[in-house]
Amino acid sequence: MRVLGIETSCDETGIALYDTDRGLLAEALYSQVSMHAEYGGVVPELASRDHIRRLLPLLQQVLDDAGCTAGQIDAIAYTAGPGLAGALLVGAATAQSLAFAWDIPALPVHHMEGHLLAPLLEENPPAFPFVALLVSGGHTMLLDARGLGDYHLLGESLDDAAGEAFDKAAKMMGLGYPGGPRISALAQQGDPARFTFPRPMTDRPGLDFSFSGLKTYCLNTIAACGGKDALSEQDRADIARAFETAVVETLVIKCRRAMQETGHTTLVMAGGVSANTHLRARLNEALGKQGVRVCYPRHDLCTDNGAMIAYAGALRLLAGERHPGLGISVRARWPLMELVPVGGIGE
Ligand code: KG4
Ligand code: ZN
Repeated sequence: MRVLGIETSCDETGIALYDTDRGLLAEALYSQVSMHAEYGGVVPELASRDHIRRLLPLLQQVLDDAGCTAGQIDAIAYTAGPGLAGALLVGAATAQSLAFAWDIPALPVHHMEGHLLAPLLEENPPAFPFVALLVSGGHTMLLDARGLGDYHLLGESLDDAAGEAFDKAAKMMGLGYPGGPRISALAQQGDPARFTFPRPMTDRPGLDFSFSGLKTYCLNTIAACGGKDALSEQDRADIARAFETAVVETLVIKCRRAMQETGHTTLVMAGGVSANTHLRARLNEALGKQGVRVCYPRHDLCTDNGAMIAYAGALRLLAGERHPGLGISVRARWPLMELVPVGGIGE
């Protein structure tokens, strides 16, 4: 079965074609990052208009790269939420229209389930049950993932998501958007001994997170260095290092707890922040010692992409999920825990 995936939830237009026998046949991504950079964050209306411009040419490119015609596609999976409503509608309307024209099913996919399943696209994929750490620009969640659609919340951020915290800290230092990769690159030159930032909410039991206090800590440190405009390159690197270490160590402490609490032996990490090499190394080191296998997607499948949506749709179709009809509806807010277990996968 060949499934076309369409992702338009935020500032990336992603298209991919996944074959349940042969794997990923082709994928294409257009990132709007440079367009939004001058505003310091995503401008929803600009995002929607750009998805309209990019989607069909990218789709043609994927079909050409895969050497595939429309008639060889069996189903379409599209991101139906959560995300920016206008951006989601571009993907949903295109998916439903193509499905109607080609007389094939179109399946709505939850964006965070796409992220969660992306590590399963790698070789030797992990099997359910596992603990999932979802760390993106909009979410920070620890889940007990027992099967497809069977996700139980262990903990989440009570305020800023981890990626959002990276983006805001970067903005404070004048590093531009998106902040995660920039802070991470700078942190490599940082002196780990100069500043120590707190590890929020690790001194009490529980698996929830809070990253907004780190912003204040960051702001105060910048002020102590004479303000944003007075920062030297080394100041920036040292602050980036302390900030990144605080986020990473907080995530590591909570992941270790989640493994102990559930008794699972696999941790699956996904979402934009899972591209962070420091986080990967520390989780491997800290959890590896306890016999836990840590899985994450290849770098380009950590951030938003069409492959994870095609794959999630394919798994759901294989598990027996049916075409819900031709209505075009999206959900800007959509808690992942509202999904219900599908088929017998993972049992
Ligand atoms: O999953 P994603 O592409 O979009 C959402 O669904 O939110 O995640 C984007 C987030 C941004 O906040 C970005 O700063 C962060 O992921 N990010 C990183 C890294 N690469 C992307 N954060 C830390 N280190 C990175 N290397
Ligand atoms: Zn995402």
